[in-house]
Amino acid sequence: MAAPTGTMRAVQYDRYGGGAQGLKHVEVPIPSPKKGEVLIRMEATSINQVDWKFQKGVARPVMPRKFPFVSGFDLAGEVVEVGAGVTEFKAGDKVIAFNFPKGGGLAEYAVASASLTVARPPEVSAAQGACLPMAAVTALRSLQAAGVTLDDPAAASPRKNVLVTAASGGVGHFAVQLARLGGHRVTATCGARNLGLVRDKLGADEALDYGTHEGAALRSPSGRKYDAVVHCAPAAGVPWSVFRRALADAGGKVVDITPGFAAFVTAILQMATFSKKRLVPLIVTPTKEDMELVVDLVKQGRLAAVIDSSYPLSRAQEGWARSMSGHATGKVVVEMGGSE
Ligand SMILES: NC(=O)c1ccc[n+]([C@@H]2O[C@H](COP(=O)([O-])OP(=O)(O)OC[C@H]3O[C@@H](n4cnc5c(N)ncnc54)[C@H](OP(=O)(O)O)[C@@H]3O)[C@@H](O)[C@H]2O)c1
Repeated sequence: MAAPTGTMRAVQYDRYGGGAQGLKHVEVPIPSPKKGEVLIRMEATSINQVDWKFQKGVARPVMPRKFPFVSGFDLAGEVVEVGAGVTEFKAGDKVIAFNFPKGGGLAEYAVASASLTVARPPEVSAAQGACLPMAAVTALRSLQAAGVTLDDPAAASPRKNVLVTAASGGVGHFAVQLARLGGHRVTATCGARNLGLVRDKLGADEALDYGTHEGAALRSPSGRKYDAVVHCAPAAGVPWSVFRRALADAGGKVVDITPGFAAFVTAILQMATFSKKRLVPLIVTPTKEDMELVVDLVKQGRLAAVIDSSYPLSRAQEGWARSMSGHATGKVVVEMGGSE
């Protein structure tokens, strides 16, 4: 297979702000893989909140470091060229990759480090694969950070009462499925329209509508207190006092995946006072092993991404707007070969 040359379609933004309307369709040179990199002919990427949060300027001026910027950190496609020193991949291999913070996924071709690229078996579609690196791995690592084991349910480790907030979202819907795979009892919060999905499709034992008084108080319908919480809902929405009341008397951990300054201060104070109830701020950087684990679970049919909506590259701004709405159910995907 000859290495592609010439130009490709990409979607980029060239300043902070602007939302979906700030995305521009451009024709740019196809990148070349450097040492340790692979060039991927893109089949799908997924849009995460961090895509448009960077555009808003939450990490300015560090990310994006320069403009114009092609976003899209979750990559799924086929290797078409490898850079010097890459021996584990060859042209024709189907892969997924995580390319953070460089991005590049909203394009027909993207380069990624081979060290964060994994094989994608035929059972895992490009769209499914593109949902995994950021969202599924964050769910996995959040459960681990909360002390929730994902071993076989028949194993000796005790089952825990786990709460997942925003269980209908990109990260939350994976967290519910993974906790259930470990045999734990899962309570989930979501909007009224998703109560059925969260219970029947994702497998939560019980679901709470966050729009109700009971939901806002995180009160388990069966009276459970939680040993572990994976907090995916907007961070500012739940004060620590609510978590403290909801946690088991023996103690427990609330893993906050959207931690602000206050979360870090709370966590440090709790550590200093040897509190049994802890807030754990978590920013996840996926590893190859994490990605292989979730790909394997999808291959085995034990884990699946719920796809909220999928858009061709030519309509990427619609997917961007959908993610920005904060009301996606599962993942928002952009498929390069998708029909217009
Ligand atoms: N730390 C990390 O490394 C890391 C990695 C990935 C993501 N994150 C962060 O994690 C957060 C969640 O990301 P995501 O991709 O899962 O978001 P998402 O897919 O955009 O979440 C949307 C879902 O959240 C639900 N929701 C909104 N407010 C809620 C509330 N108060 N209670 C319960 N459900 C609520 C919505 O339900 P309705 O439509 O019914 O309102 C919707 O289904 C974001 O802040 C993201 O930046 C962090």
